[in-house]
Amino acid sequence: MHRRRWLQSMLALAAGGNAAAAAGAETPPDQFPPGFLWGAATAAYQVEGAWQEDGRGESIWDRFAHTPGRIRNDDNGNVACDSYHRYAEDIALLRELNLGSYRYSIAWPRIQPGGRGPVNVRGMDYYQRLTDALLQAGIRPLVTLYHWDLPQPLEDAGGWPNRDTADRFADYAAIVARALADRVQHWCIFNEPQAFTSLGYRQGRHAPGRAEPLAFLRATHTVNLAQGRAWRVLKAAHARVQIGSAFDVTPMFPATPSYADMAAAERAHRFQNLWFVTPALRGHYPEGVLPQARQAELLGWRGGDDKIMRAPLDFIGLNYYSGALVSAAPHGNGVPGLDTELQWARAPGAHRRTDIGWDVYPQGLYDIVMRMAHETGNLPIEITENGAACNIGPGADGEIHDAPRSAFLQAHLRELARAIRDGAPVRAYHCWSLLDNFEWTEGYSQRFGLVYVDFDQHQQRRIKDAGRWYASVAAANRCQA
Ligand code: FCB
Repeated sequence: MHRRRWLQSMLALAAGGNAAAAAGAETPPDQFPPGFLWGAATAAYQVEGAWQEDGRGESIWDRFAHTPGRIRNDDNGNVACDSYHRYAEDIALLRELNLGSYRYSIAWPRIQPGGRGPVNVRGMDYYQRLTDALLQAGIRPLVTLYHWDLPQPLEDAGGWPNRDTADRFADYAAIVARALADRVQHWCIFNEPQAFTSLGYRQGRHAPGRAEPLAFLRATHTVNLAQGRAWRVLKAAHARVQIGSAFDVTPMFPATPSYADMAAAERAHRFQNLWFVTPALRGHYPEGVLPQARQAELLGWRGGDDKIMRAPLDFIGLNYYSGALVSAAPHGNGVPGLDTELQWARAPGAHRRTDIGWDVYPQGLYDIVMRMAHETGNLPIEITENGAACNIGPGADGEIHDAPRSAFLQAHLRELARAIRDGAPVRAYHCWSLLDNFEWTEGYSQRFGLVYVDFDQHQQRRIKDAGRWYASVAAANRCQA
């Protein structure tokens, strides 16, 4: 009960919704607005393969995945879905799925194999071919500059905790912008900045495998500096570009109605959902997370950083998978001041998990979209990722009957339609993922694709039932059964 009350007060905050809610009263509840973009997402290391081709350098994920014991079954992204060679086939699949937007990322080590220096033209050519082919197919490119594959030499020089990495990132962004900003209008600077800094530098579970809470805080600051610098570089390259990042957002609910847990949930929200948004929009960090007196020292803050971080984003991308219940952790959790403990939130009565073990919590998409609309003064929103691991393979008939994925997507899309009806300015939805692919530490064991990939049979692709269902949603612009 307490949770509902808390939620209601949060939603009352997002009061901007009321007028639009009234305006949208006559549209069917599962209808999306005209012009809504339906898409799918992938990331370079997860799908491309061709890890040593055309002058590509080593990334932290190559190094990590090649270290025995780090990845389930010691899988790696050497071949992955082989999209580097099969991108035309992937684009044909996007068309068959009626999709109008493709979110993909650029591998920094293909562009600057050592993380610095001149462009590797053969690597850049690949993204020009891919982008041109998408445009020709009438599909909007949504390009992510960084989806976790830092060039290994930059990690050797200190990685994201080293603020020089922000300068290197600005150089890289300038090279990519010169090559693509004339034809790519929509950009995500970072994918999930909270996830890659936290998993990579605080928990050590992802590349580069460091568990150093203080270095982690520095990494978050470098990423904010890099975000601001890349924003300016892209804008300078082409005035019409629209820039956001894909933020990993989680609605936070207090585990109990105690004041301590409510305050912890608010701290967790600011740290998880706003740590890379507020610096961009307002030039400062969310208050009440790090101890004020130590914040500058903990982050390695220098005078003028407020101006560097500031990047008035044109839209925000939201990656949503689940919600969390938050408790106060009086003895701390390694990040000074944060003092929170999180567990997955479950939908009341629906104690279901996807095959990767993440709780299914569709209402959380509504909650976080409404909250982020409020926090950003109603900036346009694109859902840059949402989807489910559902490890169903071909049946006796050779088809992939992945009904749980369709059910997952439908439940989430209904919540998204509700948020739009209540005034949230959402203009696009991207399913994670177009293809089954390399799921980081889970290797190839978790299948998120709308399209099945047979990793034993030359990366053969086959559209799953859920893919066909999603194609019909995209065609009708409605999330009907
Ligand atoms: C997100 C990542 C994406 C994918 C999905 C399942 O956190 O951004 O690359 O692995 O999870």
